[in-house]
Amino acid sequence: MKNGSILIVNGSPRMQGNTRNILKTLESSFLEEPGNKVEFIDICRHTLKGCVNCDSCRKNGGKCVHDDDTNLLMEKVLSSDVILFGSPVYWMGVTAQLKLLIDKFYCKDPVMHGLKKKIAIISVGAAELSDGQYGIIEAQFREMAEFLEWEFVFSKSFAAWNEGDWGKDPEEVKEVKRLRELF
Ligand SMILES: Cc1cc2nc3c(=O)[nH]c(=O)nc-3n(C[C@H](O)[C@H](O)[C@H](O)COP(=O)(O)O)c2cc1C
Repeated sequence: MKNGSILIVNGSPRMQGNTRNILKTLESSFLEEPGNKVEFIDICRHTLKGCVNCDSCRKNGGKCVHDDDTNLLMEKVLSSDVILFGSPVYWMGVTAQLKLLIDKFYCKDPVMHGLKKKIAIISVGAAELSDGQYGIIEAQFREMAEFLEWEFVFSKSFAAWNEGDWGKDPEEVKEVKRLRELF
């Protein structure tokens, strides 16, 4: 991707965690290419309330009535070409903190269909990569892309448990940097 606007959304609350480390590695790879604009969001540093299905957003041009960071973050989603999500596996799915944002896509979905956006998901769990949980997460993001008529670029999973587990293998670091080429 050249001259793209890339939004990276970290769903982990651990600021020294594996997911953030992987996403930061990929961010540095995107920044090596001149012209790319990259924004990195730690979802846990934002305030998001859960969607209550009041449907106000459907009557007021897509604004969430919650007095939180929903509208700010949804504007960032809308203005990005690429949205790269990353999340630890929490109980076979993405973190609740990340899901709070994903649910708020409801506010903007009438205007987001068919926009030329690309999404990808990186998931990190303690379980081995053969575990079915990673497929559950991939399926969710594939379905989101299909529903919104966006391009689903990849799902990539990593097995890591404690902070610092990921990043020791230089080959794995190179592999993450190369993921940029898929966009
Ligand atoms: C609440 C909670 C639930 C978890 N559930 C799972 C799980 O279902 N499957 C799994 O493989 N790992 C699970 N883990 C382990 C994390 O996915 C793992 O430690 C991961 O490396 C955390 O990512 P981070 O370092 O980016 O925060 C869970 C951890 C926590 C705290």
